[in-house]
Order: sequence, then C-alpha cells, then structure tokens
Amino acid sequence: MAGRIPQEFLDQLLARTDLVEVINIRVPLRRAGRDFIACCPFHTEKTPSFSVSPQKQFYYCFGCGAHGTAISFLMSYERLEFLDAVEDLARLAGLELPKTSGQNPLSTQPLRDSLTQADRFFRQQLREHPDRQRAVDYLRRRGLTGQIAATFGIGYAPSGWDNLSRALRGVGIEAQHLMDAGLVHRDEQGRLRDRFRDRIIFPIRDRRGRAIAFGGRALSDEVTPKYLNSPETPLFHKGSELYGLYEARIRPGVLPQLLVVEGYLDVVALAQHGITYAVATLGTATTAEHVERLFRTVNTLIFCFDGDRAGRAAAWRALLATLPLLRDGRQVGFLHLPEGDDPDTLIRREGQAAFEQRLTQAMPLADYLFAELRLQANPDTLTGRAQLADLAAPLLEKLPEGHLRDLMAERLRQEAQLINTRLRPHPVRTAQPVDHHLRLTRTPLRKAIALLLHRPDLARLALADDAIRIDDAEPGLKLLAELTRALNANPGLSIAALLERYRSTREGSILEQLAQWRPEGPDEDYQFEAEFADILSYLRRRDNLRRRDDPDKRLLETLLRRSTPRTLSAEERETLRNLGKSKKV
Ligand code: UTP
Ligand code: MN
Repeated sequence: MAGRIPQEFLDQLLARTDLVEVINIRVPLRRAGRDFIACCPFHTEKTPSFSVSPQKQFYYCFGCGAHGTAISFLMSYERLEFLDAVEDLARLAGLELPKTSGQNPLSTQPLRDSLTQADRFFRQQLREHPDRQRAVDYLRRRGLTGQIAATFGIGYAPSGWDNLSRALRGVGIEAQHLMDAGLVHRDEQGRLRDRFRDRIIFPIRDRRGRAIAFGGRALSDEVTPKYLNSPETPLFHKGSELYGLYEARIRPGVLPQLLVVEGYLDVVALAQHGITYAVATLGTATTAEHVERLFRTVNTLIFCFDGDRAGRAAAWRALLATLPLLRDGRQVGFLHLPEGDDPDTLIRREGQAAFEQRLTQAMPLADYLFAELRLQANPDTLTGRAQLADLAAPLLEKLPEGHLRDLMAERLRQEAQLINTRLRPHPVRTAQPVDHHLRLTRTPLRKAIALLLHRPDLARLALADDAIRIDDAEPGLKLLAELTRALNANPGLSIAALLERYRSTREGSILEQLAQWRPEGPDEDYQFEAEFADILSYLRRRDNLRRRDDPDKRLLETLLRRSTPRTLSAEERETLRNLGKSKKV
C-alpha cells in the first residue's frame, strides 16, 4: 500500500468522503440514471464521457480511460501527491491525519523540511543579519514596503559561502537533503557551498503555501546572472509552477481573473499597488501545463508581456499553449505594454487605476491572432487571403469543439473572404473511442470480481466457500478470496476504499479495470446472485478435479480454464460434458 497511512484510516476517510461532492465543486456534474456525468476534465471533448458512480465511489472516462477514487481524482486534477490528497480529503471530512511513525524511503518529507527551514532562514536574515540594511534599502528603492515583503515571504541570502548550509546542518538537516533540494552543492574540495549568496530571495510556493523552490535576485545589476532559480527537483518543475499563484489564491474575496506577467518583481510591485491577481512564469515560456493550472483557478486570463520583440514572441507562444485549452466559458486577453516598460515600471508610474484601465482594453485572443496573421499575409490580395487561411486553419484546428471554434471559423471566413474555408474536425473527436473494458480478457474469475465490485453484498455468497482460499497459489483466486473476506469483515466498506488497498500494485490495476464493468441494462434486470453463484460452483468443480489424479485431467482443466462453457465451441462443450460425466464432476 502506498504511503504510511494506516488502512483503517483510509477506509474511514473514504467512507466519509463523497466523490460526487469532491468532483462537483471542480467539474459540475449532472445526473444520468444512477451515475453522474460531465465532459471529461482530463481530455477535451464536446459530449460527456466522464462518469462518476456514487455507489462505487469511482469515476471513469470512456473517452480517455482516466479512472480512480477520490484520492486519485485529487492527485490528477490538483496535481497532488498521494499524502497531500489524503490530507485534503481528511480536512474536508473533519478527520485528523494519524501521526505516522517510520518514514517511507520514497518520501519527499526530508526535501520539504530542508525547504521549509531554508525559507525560514532567508526571512530571518532579512530581519536580523548585520548586512540586512543593504537588502532592505534595495527593496525600498524598488518601491516595496515591509508589509508586502512579508506577504510574499521575501528573504535575504547573505554573502558568504556556507551561511545556509551551516545553519541548516546545525538544526539536524542532512547534507544530502540540502543538495537534493537544490540549496547547496559540493565544490571540488568536497565543501558544501550555498547556491544563493548575497541575493534577495523570492520563495516559490505550492498550492498549500509551502516553499518548493526559490528565486534569487542580485542586489546590483552588475552581477550575473541577475536572477538565479532553484534547479528542478522532485518537488519543483519550472514548466508547471507559477510565482504568486498561492498568494493570489489566498487573498480574501473572489478572484476575478489572473494576470500573467514575466517577472517576480512585476508580481510583487503589482500587489504593492493593489493588483493582487498577478502571477509569473519562472523565466520560461508559458506552457500548456501553466495555462491548465490557471484555468483551474479562474476562467479569464490576461497575458501581459513587454512591448519588445522578446515580449511579443512570448505572447505568441502563450497563445499557442492556450488554444487547445479554450473550452467554452474560458477567455484570454493580451495586453502589450509600451516598449521599454514592464508591469513594475508602469504601475509605479501610473498607479492602479490607470493600469486596470489598460487591462480592460486587453486584446481578445481572436483579435490578437488575426492581427498577427495579417502581418504575415496581406488580406488585400487574393493570394494573401489564401495564405491567411492556410496560416489560420492549423491554429484554429487546435481549438476544442465548441462555440468558440465555430465563431473563429466564421471569423476566418470573413477575414479571408473565402467561402470554402473548412476546418478539419478536432483530432480527439475523430480518434476511435477506446474500449477500456476490453483490455482484460474475460475469465470466470475476473467476471466474479467484476460482479463483486459492482455488488459488494455478493460477498456473503462466498462466506466460508472452500473453493476460494487466500492461500491459493492462483493469483486471481487469492485476490477473489481476499476481496470477499475484506467485504464480509467490513460490511459497508466502499469499493473505493477496497481499491485504495491495492494502489500501485498489479492487482490494483486489474481491479481498477474490473471496477468499470457494469451490466448493459438496469441493475434490476441482471441476475447478479445467479451468475456469481454459478461461477462459485464452477470454481468448486474445478477445485475438486484438481485434487484428483487423472489422465484426462489436463484436457479437462484446459477446457475449464479457457472460459465459461458458453464460449467453448460445440465440440469442446461436448468433450467437456463427457469428461465431466465420466469423472462425476
Ligand atoms: P527580466 O530580465 O525581465 O527582469 O526577467 P525583471 O522581472 O524586469 O526584473 P527586474 O525588474 O530587473 O528585477 C523576467 C524574469 O525572467 C527570469 C526571472 O524569472 C525574471 O523575473 N530571469 C531573468 C531569470 O531566470 N534569470 C535571469 O538572469 C533573468
Ligand atoms: Mn523589471
């Protein structure tokens, strides 16, 4: 089992958790029969194939195969680690996470401890270090107050080679963990050297507010590099993190939109002047992961890049990353700043009101897209218009199916003054729907497990059944025995809780597949008991047979193992019947 959380706690947690509620506040669900459905949050689609079963407390998508429990949902949707997802659900359910003893060797806890201690250390240096005044003066010169520095947890890494490493080794943090966290490295002589020296420190926080990396700015423009960031670590991936997102999210009140800017200081200076909804990428281009993350927080994004050539290139790359994610209801604007300005210089000169006035005039994505294309193809000539259509079509084809896509196609027809511009259907729609039910071959054993996962009460039919034993050498039989025993011992155990016991195991992935099974028609029309009992008696016959020594045994066994009698050929059925008769099975 994953993590260090006791099984009883997970059982209790999942019993108190309602998956429908967990999903519904993030992805609005609607009822369809006994289940709930929605358009899948894990791939782009126009018609819903994402289904949530309140009985099983399990979700699955017929389109892309995403599936799992409430814990899995939070892990994929919020990009949480297992323990964090459990912690979130526990808080929601009002349960106290049990204190765990002994550490999972794969745990990121030591890394987190190093980062938390470093975060504390840097902030403390800004308050107490003998050289603190240089750092404080720098921040003042940049127009920042102590209060805003505190809001963002800004700190100071003093000059010197090993301030941080000595301080953290002193509170018992291992050198290896400091290196894993990207805070120190060893030089050729094997001495520990701090990464950040004589720099203003901006902590980069995860969605819980925990520091996962740092950005450090030199105090003078002569020092290179101007900004130094933490390297990639198991907790920090530049391509998906955004500076300031945590701070923007915890502000009281509704978050109307998010403004995406280029620099740490832009975010902080904007907040200083009352614009508390800015975030920055970390010196990288905007990725689809960034955009997806932002859209999970708000529906409106404004990209605000410098007016120079690099800024315009960055805006275009942001547009490309955004197109496939523009579902209906989501909006994107682009604000190009005057050349020579960045949000920091502009807000300090103009103030909040003028800056927000600019935001209202941000260019809608469609206008920006066609404006850029018109620079490349002249719509005044016939060839230019054809060229415009050629350039636009592949871009518009990236849009998911929806009203926006239709409107953009219409817009292209107008812009290019062509009547026969046709977009090819969205690739996701043309792909063959994947049948995830067929990935496992159907055997009686698997069918029994599928039935059991759909109707856990069937376990009572297997009480003390001699055909299924936990010590059985056959893995499927052993699994069925374990499941029936667990269900009989804990009536009311949810299927989700049962599945969590097998997280990240081979059995787990089989169970997840089998948990997707459901009868074609309504449950009322299906003979669950009869079918389950049938399979049990089949298993019992097979079991009896195995205990005997018999020349025909192997053939009989092969036939029985092959499948239920129904799937055998007529001839094979006949053989089976005769063998069975003569051996009094
Ligand atoms: P800029 O060079 O535009 O700096 O870098 P800035 O944000 O205006 O900073 P100030 O106002 O001079 O302090 C924008 C972002 O690019 C990344 C940083 O994330 C920075 O905030 N960057 C820049 C680096 O990672 N390394 C560098 O050397 C420079
Ligand atoms: Mn700047």
